[in-house]
Amino acid sequence: MEKKDIDWGNLGFGYMETSYSYVCNYKDGAWEEGGLTTDHSVTVSECAGILHYCQEVFEGLKAYTTEDGRIVCFRPDLNAARMADSAKRLVMPEFPQDKFVEAVKMVVEANKEWVPPFGSGATLYVRPYMFATGVVIGVKPATEYQFRILVTPVGPYFKGGKEAITITVADYDRAAPRGTGDIKAGLNYAMSLHPYEEAHKRGYSENLYLDSATRSYVEETGGANVLFVDKQSNLVVPQSHTNSILPSITRRSLVTVAKDILGMSVVERPVKFEEVTNGDFMECGLCGTAAVISPVGHIEAEGVDVTFVDGAENAGPVMSKLRRTLTDIQSGAIEGPEGWIVEIC
Ligand code: PLP
Ligand code: COI
Repeated sequence: MEKKDIDWGNLGFGYMETSYSYVCNYKDGAWEEGGLTTDHSVTVSECAGILHYCQEVFEGLKAYTTEDGRIVCFRPDLNAARMADSAKRLVMPEFPQDKFVEAVKMVVEANKEWVPPFGSGATLYVRPYMFATGVVIGVKPATEYQFRILVTPVGPYFKGGKEAITITVADYDRAAPRGTGDIKAGLNYAMSLHPYEEAHKRGYSENLYLDSATRSYVEETGGANVLFVDKQSNLVVPQSHTNSILPSITRRSLVTVAKDILGMSVVERPVKFEEVTNGDFMECGLCGTAAVISPVGHIEAEGVDVTFVDGAENAGPVMSKLRRTLTDIQSGAIEGPEGWIVEIC
């Protein structure tokens, strides 16, 4: 199979239109059959629920080309389950989880020339999303929805590659005021755009969000969970008292990789921001589908600049080892736990 003629190695994290998207509508209490479309635009009523009360949820996963030329994706069942949780919180119908996985397979296979080659550094980003198409004018849930999947080839999320990025502590909450930080909904991300702009103007790649109640615990960044390595080489994974950290599939997978494959000790616990400013951690990384594991070299908070001893410029030894093992599993180079890799074609 011929791949598209694209300079895969120089792709950034951007959108390009591919051959097909997937679309499926919900009406009269049921999902229609659904299928592929070459129409990459969406037309909705001026009164559609998405435009007024922001009923929208989304997911993100990737498809990879293996060394022997197969196309696979990573744990799509967990994206299906998380999307169902997000939908429930926004009073939207669940998109059936088996149908979700079948739709991912269908749209990736239809776009197989767009899945970047093995070893190119790029991957196919798969973005399932669902929004209210039904009309509402009073504040209430809509009765009609559209589920879609778009795919687009992407390179690294952060420009640094192996080089460490810097982040700053946001003055704002990422979650919407009524607290929905543990789901993937567009509204949460809209709330993060202002601090994102502020951070970028000041030369930082990302914001670190603290817990909104006390502003003393580390939560996560705008588009990724945070990991630390302490002085005893434990992997320290921040936990939230209020479930306001997005349950990252990458983070949950890395905990298994660290414990069961690399034999590391992993501590999942609330992490005080004070521990970061005290210099208690040797390495820091951001993990997620888009971020993979991106090393953090410095964190700034109100003029205090924390530098990670083992990862100030490039990824430190633990983050490097975790990243290599995870990406080897995702691209089929080494075998991961059962069910993690789903073959598409
Ligand atoms: N946290 C936020 C806010 C995100 O947007 C993402 C990206 O999906 C993640 C964490 C990482 O989650 P996952 O590993 O499931 O992609
Ligand atoms: C992802 O990693 O899939 C995300 O959703 C992060 C960001 C692109 C929003």
